[in-house]
Amino acid sequence: MKKSFFIFLIAFSCFTVKGDDGYKLWLGYQKIAVPELARQYNQAISGIVAKGGSTTLKIAEQELRMALETILDKKIPSLKASLNNAILIGTPESSKEIKGLLASRDFNLGDEGFVIQRQKINNINTTIIAARKDIGVLYGVFAFIQLLQTHQSINNVSITSVPKIKNRVLNHWDNLNRSVERGYAGISIWNWHTLPGYIDQRYIDYARANASIGINGTVLTNVNANSQVLTPEYLVKVKALADVFRPYGIKVYLTAKFSAPIEIGGLKTADPLNEEVIQWWKHKCSEIYTLIPDFGGFLVKANSEGQPGPQGYGKTHADGANMFADALQPYGGIVMWRAFVYDVRVQKDEEHFTEGSVGAHTQTIASGDRFKQAYAEFKPLDGKFKENVLVQVKNGPIDFQPREPFSPLFGAMPQTPLMMEFQITQEYLGQSTTLAYLAPMFKECLDSDTYSKDKGSTVAKIIDGSIDQHTVSGIAGVANIGNDRNWTGHLFGQANWYAFGRLAWNYDLSSEAIAEEWIRQTFNNNNAFVGSVKKIMLTSREAAVNYMTPLGLHHIMATSHHYGPGPWVKNAGRADWNPVYYHKANSTGIGFDRTSKGSNALSQYAPAVQKQWNDINTCDYKYLLWFHHVPWNYKINTGKTLWEELCRRYNAGVDSVRWMEQTWSGLEKLLDQEVYQHVKMLLSIQEQEAVWWRNSCLLYFQTLSQLPFPPGFENPDKDLPYYQSLKFPFAPGIGGNL
Ligand code: GCU
Repeated sequence: MKKSFFIFLIAFSCFTVKGDDGYKLWLGYQKIAVPELARQYNQAISGIVAKGGSTTLKIAEQELRMALETILDKKIPSLKASLNNAILIGTPESSKEIKGLLASRDFNLGDEGFVIQRQKINNINTTIIAARKDIGVLYGVFAFIQLLQTHQSINNVSITSVPKIKNRVLNHWDNLNRSVERGYAGISIWNWHTLPGYIDQRYIDYARANASIGINGTVLTNVNANSQVLTPEYLVKVKALADVFRPYGIKVYLTAKFSAPIEIGGLKTADPLNEEVIQWWKHKCSEIYTLIPDFGGFLVKANSEGQPGPQGYGKTHADGANMFADALQPYGGIVMWRAFVYDVRVQKDEEHFTEGSVGAHTQTIASGDRFKQAYAEFKPLDGKFKENVLVQVKNGPIDFQPREPFSPLFGAMPQTPLMMEFQITQEYLGQSTTLAYLAPMFKECLDSDTYSKDKGSTVAKIIDGSIDQHTVSGIAGVANIGNDRNWTGHLFGQANWYAFGRLAWNYDLSSEAIAEEWIRQTFNNNNAFVGSVKKIMLTSREAAVNYMTPLGLHHIMATSHHYGPGPWVKNAGRADWNPVYYHKANSTGIGFDRTSKGSNALSQYAPAVQKQWNDINTCDYKYLLWFHHVPWNYKINTGKTLWEELCRRYNAGVDSVRWMEQTWSGLEKLLDQEVYQHVKMLLSIQEQEAVWWRNSCLLYFQTLSQLPFPPGFENPDKDLPYYQSLKFPFAPGIGGNL
């Protein structure tokens, strides 16, 4: 009896396949199961020739071998000389064949580009993965692996790829106590307590994942900064991370708290023109660069939401940024100076506050339109920044809404390199219970035409420096990464990290192509499956816009944690933290008039852009309520009134989520159970949230429009007071910056 029970246990454990917990991201390789491709790959790949001894090249070889051995299910030998069908990887310095290839024509690879090419060398078939610098080889290796993972033919492969933007950076809003501001995937992956002695495998896997999509920088700390990270005790911890990331081509950056000279330097002031302050930052930089010779530089949030800054001393953003620029310049570091500013006229330098928790700072702005402030403060400073300063601008003028028009600063500061700041973490997009694939949102902004020079002056071409001839360029994404096993909370959050990296490398890629790459690498290559998941992804962002903020509504989330709807909120500490400030709904209509009859924010755009949005009759409906206060009974071109169209869109959003749920359920057989259930449960929560959004927003707006729901509308099962009573005191994402 005992014996058979034992046998049962063994047998049972053999058949219990451990689920896929998502840890491997898009790098979980699988044995190739398609016979023709298996034959092709096996024939074309006999081994690896890797010359050159740098750590980066060794990693490139290891990554390639690890992937090939799993995909081809065979040992991949290291070859000394090129044998038939070898893969040759390296640089002109490590291989004379590669030197020959790269000299044969101008590939224009720069420091990070690569070539993948199958050709004959001395009559021997070889696949070459070549670059000028070691890091390009690693990028090339990951690109080659991607070809195999996505089942592409490699017989005549010939690819040249060069990043369009130089600094491709993740911004972690991670605090030293490991809470993550607007983080929804657990706590920070940086374990400051055990650093520098303990190097978590996660740090290495983080670097691998980023290198595989070309991300080459990481800001480790929150923009609401803590100067403690600049103390010697913490800098050795930063150095430990920098040492891990270096061979993967990733530079480390820190956020610099403007008041650090006072807080940790014992000075009486942080005035950027004060000689002692200037010297303090110079010494600080020298200390940092002694430890981390390739330190990237600083990201600074100043004079915004309570963060101290130069204006506290009667100085400008340019004065502040240039002080850092001078201190970093001898070492090649850069300053990323944020343009996310809005008035806090009664600001005291040492204070930091979070939205909703203010006391003294009440109702200080209100006079104008927050939309206009970044432009108003920064445009006059164009031409006043030092060469190693990039001004980092959020994609839209307000704050990472599900849909925003592009920030009017893009195109307005030709003498200053502007860096894009996207938010990958879904602060305003349902957080980690929402499947929203954000490539279409990133692309919408990047592809927008600023008309700053002429037609075709897209935001992408502003930030890559090509329109205004800047040699430095950058793009940042606020990370959605935490210590959850699957890194991003929602498995589909991984797709947004992936998409950010891919677009930072090449903004011409389509959302669809990126989704397809990600699906094939993350799940499988079954074409029907790929098609269905792709449809879910491509539907998802518009679905969220529809059930949250259709027709150009914005910032109507509950205050502070921003989880769920709160269009009725009108008592938050500052006028512009209140949803009522943004939707301006009343008995006559809804929307923020930003035309010349209203706040005139539209005047900050080029005339051709103004023209697109200025006229209520021709303004794209996507942006209608961003720029116009529209009567409830206004007839739009679907033949419906605005009120009816609003109802229709809220409904459509809910319907889309239901469709996504249903489609996912149909894919069960093609998925690992753990993955299937994870997404299924989250989609079911999302459906409830979508209904909650629709019902509560429309019930609230109905109190103003006084109009009935259109026929066929799914009537809310709860009343408005119920929705208004919901409280989420422990909603995630609000970490104190301790
Ligand atoms: C948003 C967000 C804050 C963040 C700020 C910023 O307002 O809610 O948590 O600090 O953006 O980008 O600085």
